[in-house]
Amino acid sequence: MDFSYNISASYQDNFDRGPQLGAVPELSSTGSFEFLGQKVSSPLGIAAGLLPNAKWISGYAARGWDLLTYKTVRSKARECYPVPNWVFVDADAGEGPVYATNDLPEDPSQISSAVCFGMPSMDPSFWREDIATSKNSLSEGQRLIVSVVASPEADWSAAQVAEDYAKCAAWAAEAGADVVEANYSCPNVCSAEGQVYMDVELADSVTKAVRSAIGQTRLLLKVGGVSRYRFTTVISEGSSGSG
Ligand SMILES: Cc1cc2nc3c(=O)[nH]c(=O)nc-3n(C[C@H](O)[C@H](O)[C@H](O)COP(=O)(O)O)c2cc1C
Repeated sequence: MDFSYNISASYQDNFDRGPQLGAVPELSSTGSFEFLGQKVSSPLGIAAGLLPNAKWISGYAARGWDLLTYKTVRSKARECYPVPNWVFVDADAGEGPVYATNDLPEDPSQISSAVCFGMPSMDPSFWREDIATSKNSLSEGQRLIVSVVASPEADWSAAQVAEDYAKCAAWAAEAGADVVEANYSCPNVCSAEGQVYMDVELADSVTKAVRSAIGQTRLLLKVGGVSRYRFTTVISEGSSGSG
């Protein structure tokens, strides 16, 4: 099987080289769909992760993906964790550990993988321009979503976290994002930005700050799973007035 991302190479190598994709096929015209009130040619999209720069965005856009998410960016540069960042895993259904494997099922839809990149980011001086380049590479009927996250220090207040999210969101919107996606959940960082969705008050402050920083630009909030137990606890704590 051929893959566009080389999991044995570093993130930077993949970033620089761009996706390894075959020739651009002739695309038949699709219908018209609506996404957040905007017309798109298809509902076929790529979630935050695979597309870290304009080479990747334009490569997939040319091959018919219409909702393209620019991999999460920060207000300052952040290195990627060392390789391996992405492995295939033998993930049978159920709880418990999964193990890396190179023994892949023939049916690609049966392949599972696990990632650990740590949400690397180029400096804003790079990505603000690169988002504009990405946007210019899209055709009518394609939309660019830009994922943003804060980079809090341990002693930051909620207001500082919100301000950092809002700064990235404003730059993303200014650069041409059709939709800003605030990333509230990343299981492979240990600092506050990986868990915003679990803190109702913080999520509320961040969302208000981001909303008011991006004018009319659409906003998506990316959250993680909440167990039923946890959900019930939060609701009942809220109703007893503990906040
Ligand atoms: C290579 C890779 C990199 C990722 N990087 C990000 C990221 O930068 N920001 C983010 O919000 N999610 C990131 N993700 C998570 C995906 O957006 C998605 O939430 C996750 O893969 C679960 O969806 P799935 O089960 O359809 O794969 C990444 C996933 C992959 C596979």
